[in-house]
Amino acid sequence: MTTTDLSRPAETEGAQLPRHDVTDIGIARDGVTRIEWAEREMPVLRLIRERFERERPLEGMRIGACLHVTTETANLMRTLKAGGAQVALCASNPLSTQDDVAAALVAEYGISTFARRGIDRDGYFGHLNAVVDTHPQLTQDDGCDLVSLLHRDRRDALPGVLAGTEETTTGVIRLRAMAADGALMYPIVAVNEALTKHLFDNRYGTGQSTVDGILRATNILLAGRHVVVAGFGWVGKGIASRMRGMGAQVAIVEVDPIVAIEALMDGYQVMSGLEAAAWGEVFVTATGNLHVFRKEHFERMHNGAILANSGHFDAELDLAALREMAGGRVRNLRRDVQEYDLGDRKVYVLAEGRLVNLAAAEGHPAAVMDMSFANQALAAEYGAKHHTELKPDLYTMPADIDREVARLKLEALEIKIDQMTPEQLKYVSSWQEGT
Ligand SMILES: NC(=O)c1ccc[n+]([C@@H]2O[C@H](COP(=O)([O-])OP(=O)(O)OC[C@H]3O[C@@H](n4cnc5c(N)ncnc54)[C@H](O)[C@@H]3O)[C@@H](O)[C@H]2O)c1
Repeated sequence: MTTTDLSRPAETEGAQLPRHDVTDIGIARDGVTRIEWAEREMPVLRLIRERFERERPLEGMRIGACLHVTTETANLMRTLKAGGAQVALCASNPLSTQDDVAAALVAEYGISTFARRGIDRDGYFGHLNAVVDTHPQLTQDDGCDLVSLLHRDRRDALPGVLAGTEETTTGVIRLRAMAADGALMYPIVAVNEALTKHLFDNRYGTGQSTVDGILRATNILLAGRHVVVAGFGWVGKGIASRMRGMGAQVAIVEVDPIVAIEALMDGYQVMSGLEAAAWGEVFVTATGNLHVFRKEHFERMHNGAILANSGHFDAELDLAALREMAGGRVRNLRRDVQEYDLGDRKVYVLAEGRLVNLAAAEGHPAAVMDMSFANQALAAEYGAKHHTELKPDLYTMPADIDREVARLKLEALEIKIDQMTPEQLKYVSSWQEGT
């Protein structure tokens, strides 16, 4: 944990700042410029912010958010504040924080922020606890760490929580398990399940930003290279298609037979993990599962193999096994690249196996987070308005909100689509029409 006292407000140059723990408040201006740059690409969130400023649907509501501290998240925080909320933010991953953004949130936007890039485990949970200390009434989580903490160690703060939202697949899986066990104590909206979230963010956002992270870390040529993508869900589909777009030869590793056939019919090679280990040059995991590549795979990999993960947790690559195989011969080669010397071969791990798109690049482009965070803002409004009608359970995004986000995005892009004619409406809703 850092030495900053999280219990008191900080002061910089005489100005009273909200409580925070950030790396360097002096770099706030850099953050503001980048937050404004991202905002240009977030027209839907801007429209929502303007409405929130007028209507103040979150007036007085305390929101505790645990999200990647990026420029796009900063624009979501501004939107919630415009709606009248008091927001406290911590990071949902120790390596995804953009320090200038964290500083800007505190110094320029007056939002309590607890996040430092590269924080250790104790510091990471210290930041989550600092958010819980604000006694949030609404939670916003990305991966369920905040909700888990509230339900395990900080039950003192549970009674005041009215509702929550969850951003990602892995978090939704954990919440579903909690709901099935009867352990979940308040209603949570699964933002990830909105079509305007996972169809775009998970697929196109992660697809592009994963390639971006791998390239920033390594600067390798992808054309002609053998790339293995483990998991062909929404994230894996995006990564595979973008890798192919860069000229790579792509093979998919799956455990679901239907998804494996889908990959095959999309034109990818499909092989087992062991076959892929010997074939691949670059490996990317996107399964949400544990130890997808482990000792038996590392043993078959070529000299120079590059390993990256884009799944939520750093558990997809069995790095403990790899470290043991390297017998301590591990060194930092360049930013976000670690070399593991296995004796006869060397393999390279990017961003310590954490989500490579956020740790080695800047996460998803703002244009796609526009829709994800429009859903987050509207889900917060929905939770604030409807929490008394909801039981402690996991809820999907109401379909009308989902469609509204899509409608606003098209409107912002000035793209018109057709509407069915009355004749067509009648035709598609009648069972009497036919040959
Ligand atoms: N990096 C990011 O910015 C980002 C963005 C969105 C989601 N995520 C995370 O990415 C992960 C995947 O998300 P998704 O939405 O694609 O999930 P998904 O459920 O749509 O897909 C996961 C796929 O992995 C497959 N799988 C499971 N175990 C496997 C194994 N051992 N080997 C091979 N395949 C296996 C499943 O069959 C499934 O097809 C989650 O952890 C999610 O939270 C990350």
